[in-house]
Amino acid sequence: MAAYQRIVVLTGAGLSAESGLSTFRDADGIWARYDYRDVATPEGFARNPELVYEFYNRRRRDGMKAQPNAAHIALAKLEREYPGEVLIVTQNVDTLHEAAGSRNLIHMHGQMALSLCAACDARSPWVEDLSPDLACPSCSTTGSMRPDVVWFGEIPYELERISAALSGCDLFLSIGTSGNVYPAAGFVAAAREAGAHTVELNLEPSEGTSLFAERIEGPASRVVPAYVDRLLAAATSG
Ligand code: OAD
Repeated sequence: MAAYQRIVVLTGAGLSAESGLSTFRDADGIWARYDYRDVATPEGFARNPELVYEFYNRRRRDGMKAQPNAAHIALAKLEREYPGEVLIVTQNVDTLHEAAGSRNLIHMHGQMALSLCAACDARSPWVEDLSPDLACPSCSTTGSMRPDVVWFGEIPYELERISAALSGCDLFLSIGTSGNVYPAAGFVAAAREAGAHTVELNLEPSEGTSLFAERIEGPASRVVPAYVDRLLAAATSG
């Protein structure tokens, strides 16, 4: 295995599946139980805010009980011990990467542990349930609080920084994501264009699997630590 200088890792719901958090598109996933238009769009929120609050309140509570698994822990170790740069871009709105110790991390779809005020745009740490009657801690407006998550039809966070990282990376890993949602699903093409080696680590082939130079199938808690060990061994032997 080559020694790489700049690694970008894209993660999705499959990474947190073994921590007990549901994926979206698996047979028992979240989108089998909810219509995304009701709970993950600005229009759904305007139509029925109570349903949206309850959807994220439940997921926030589940997320707070969950522990990072061996895959989160291996990625944090990679960032700590790898001699090159490691950036994690996650689509996940849980905080299991942080809990495992990752620091160079972009939450491109936001995070449930923050609220966002529609009146003043302030983000505030949020561990309690959100409800319509709450006042924003920054501007005191009532009824303006929503979870700081990116909904369908909204623009993901930090796309410029992600794009710069992709165009400068020499290894791109995609872990536990089905490749259905853009712009994340297009990152592999950007990394290839930059000349990076591209690897998919997933339970099963994703929508975009043919775009990857290398594919490793299996549960993240098994395949990610093994791959990280190989990367660390290659970096120290070279
Ligand atoms: P998906 O549910 O679409 O895909 C999860 C992927 O993880 C699937 O390909 C599974 O096969 C795989 N998987 C499941 N268990 C796994 C395991 N133990 N180890 C490895 N892989 C496993 O979730 P995402 O691709 O993350 O966005 O979904 C992307 C976005 O769509 C989410 O951020 C969310 C959703 O709608 C918004 O809500 C805006």
